[in-house]
Amino acid sequence: MKPPSSYVFLAFVLLISFGAASSSSSSHDNFLQCLHLHSPNATSFSKLVFTNTNFSYSSLLHFSIHNLRFSSHTTPKPLVIVTPLRPSHIQASIFCSQRHGLQIRTRSGGHDYEGLSYVSHHPPFILLDLINLNSVHVDQHSATAWLQSGATIGQLYYQIAQKSKTLAFPAGVCTTLGVGGHFSGGGYGFLMRKYGLSADNIIDAHIIDAKGRLLDRESMGEDLFWAIRGGGGASFGVIVAWKIRLVSLPPRVTVFRVARTLEQNATKLVHAWQSVGSKLDKDLFIRVILQRVNVNKKTTIKASFESMFLGSVEKLLPLMQEMFPELGLVREDCDEMSWIESILYFANFPIGSPLEVLLNRTDLNKSLFFKGKSDYVREPIPENGLEGIWRMFDEQEAELGLMILNPYGGRMDEIAENEIPFPHRFGNLYKIQHLVYWLQEGEEAEERHIDWIRRLYTYMEPFVSKSPRAAYLNYRDLDIGVNNNIGYTSYEQASIWGSKYFKNNFRRLAYVKTKVDPLNFFRNEQSIPSLIPSH
Ligand SMILES: Cc1cc2nc3c(=O)[nH]c(=O)nc-3n(C[C@H](O)[C@H](O)[C@H](O)COP(=O)(O)OP(=O)(O)OC[C@H]3O[C@@H](n4cnc5c(N)ncnc54)[C@H](O)[C@@H]3O)c2cc1C
Ligand SMILES: *[C@@H]1O[C@H](CO)[C@@H](O)[C@H](O)[C@H]1NC(C)=O
Ligand SMILES: *[C@@H]1O[C@H](CO)[C@@H](O)[C@H](O)[C@H]1NC(C)=O
Ligand SMILES: *[C@@H]1O[C@H](CO)[C@@H](O)[C@H](O)[C@H]1NC(C)=O
Ligand SMILES: *[C@@H]1O[C@H](CO)[C@@H](O)[C@H](O)[C@H]1NC(C)=O
Ligand SMILES: *[C@@H]1O[C@H](CO)[C@@H](O)[C@H](O)[C@H]1NC(C)=O
Repeated sequence: MKPPSSYVFLAFVLLISFGAASSSSSSHDNFLQCLHLHSPNATSFSKLVFTNTNFSYSSLLHFSIHNLRFSSHTTPKPLVIVTPLRPSHIQASIFCSQRHGLQIRTRSGGHDYEGLSYVSHHPPFILLDLINLNSVHVDQHSATAWLQSGATIGQLYYQIAQKSKTLAFPAGVCTTLGVGGHFSGGGYGFLMRKYGLSADNIIDAHIIDAKGRLLDRESMGEDLFWAIRGGGGASFGVIVAWKIRLVSLPPRVTVFRVARTLEQNATKLVHAWQSVGSKLDKDLFIRVILQRVNVNKKTTIKASFESMFLGSVEKLLPLMQEMFPELGLVREDCDEMSWIESILYFANFPIGSPLEVLLNRTDLNKSLFFKGKSDYVREPIPENGLEGIWRMFDEQEAELGLMILNPYGGRMDEIAENEIPFPHRFGNLYKIQHLVYWLQEGEEAEERHIDWIRRLYTYMEPFVSKSPRAAYLNYRDLDIGVNNNIGYTSYEQASIWGSKYFKNNFRRLAYVKTKVDPLNFFRNEQSIPSLIPSH
């Protein structure tokens, strides 16, 4: 990883020009000319710039769209897509966007639930697609790694496994997630009860701010470094790279996936799990996936208990017997494997797949429309409350509905709420992810399914966290509130959604935003507001 100092010269040149920047024409010709003028090597840069006259514009745009809701012909499209190879390309894009009155959307992996990384409902905008900024350098001796924002967690996991059998990193389950969005919004997976979130394990970063400066942890200062670890990157600049601290695991872990239907006492098991999941040994993680299934032509609910234990089957079985005997786990349910094999297992790759599948940026299940929401649970939901959920899953729209219950406790309980902007720590039993998928195109299908998940969310209200009803930023949900007027908004209005994602950390985020981007250049429907009123 080159130190930021090698870009100082360009940053300096841009800084001078920034002073003179004025928004004038918004035509993309002017933007393109500007890029041409401000690139150190215009010849090679033009190969990284796409407009809809370029043959690959459309395939590039769609390549990292993971929710078909945002790939229709009516979805607003970027005027220009830039695929930077170097920080100087990002700096030139920021400078020229400001000069010509364009907004920027930054995309790393493209998994944003509301498509905010590549859609703006207030065009014109350009898309900075970081797909080419994807290097990963693991240093097994210091147990750290530098990785660029456009890398996926699959690439990270792969590179770690190439260097070590006992190092790992706590991050998500779906291996195509980009680390630009995933880490800056939190990032959790099966290691969270032992080691916390991805964002809890970041030790340095490179970011380009609204003035075009390339900063590292030392030069950005602790406020901004705090904000981008859980506050979302998009409000503050373009994160180029992260330095992370790797964690140690035993060479073998134990996994199981045990499913029970209503006829097999799923209601009692889920009810019991609620009080157990967050109290288990830190080495043991058990999540629950709830969905509707057909068994012998009869509709029922299936609860899948998915687990990873950082140890052997011999140690796991007595632990389960002590803490959660109701599940009736037996040795035959369990498999011992390496951590990297467990990544493939939980990402649903076919058994025996080579590790290289981790490098593939295409999802196994790409052609789906979906809407997600999140909730935090602090007291167990009574059995009759669970039965009401099952009734909602009887509805037609719930055919591909899903609830994922993710246990907290362990390391999550030990980290203070204001350590990083992600505030959901002590006192949470688990988080729920509500999801609904559908396959049919068109507004009618979209409305029906979104209506279903909104009604589920209303039904859940008495059972989940209150004042605020907390939510996870990485499960972005525009239903909980949006900024008005192309991303400008008052602090009070933004607090409606801001307090749900960040609780009391929202105020400090707004303070940092005001300091680093007072004119609110980096903005979207749910960006942190600047406290300086503009427009
Ligand atoms: C199938 C699927 C599975 C998931 N599984 C998990 C999981 O197991 N655990 C979990 O914690 N989350 C999970 N998520 C949620 C995921 O963490 C978020 O969607 C995350 O923001 C995705 O990051 P990305 O880079 O892929 O997304 P993007 O859409 O590229 O970015 C998301 C947001 O971050 C901004 N951003 C991206 N890159 C940068 C950058 N370099 N600088 C500044 N801002 C940037 C974008 O502008 C956007 O606002 C899942 C999502 C999906 C769709
Ligand atoms: C500009 O880029 C081209 C193509 O990548 C390369 O061949 C050339 O050496 C570069 N020129 C400079 C001055 O870096
Ligand atoms: C897109 O088209 C323009 C004009 O023909 C060309 O200069 C540019 O290099 C093309 N971009 C790519 C990535 O090929
Ligand atoms: C369900 O629970 C009851 C006791 O509560 C038990 O008798 C029965 O065997 C269980 N059924 C299954 C399929 O585990
Ligand atoms: C893909 O989606 C189907 C439902 O359409 C689901 O049954 C299957 O488990 C999914 N596969 C993966 C890998 O998520
Ligand atoms: C990547 O994965 C997708 C989906 O499973 C598959 O269709 C494609 O062939 C894979 N690409 C490569 C290069 O392996």
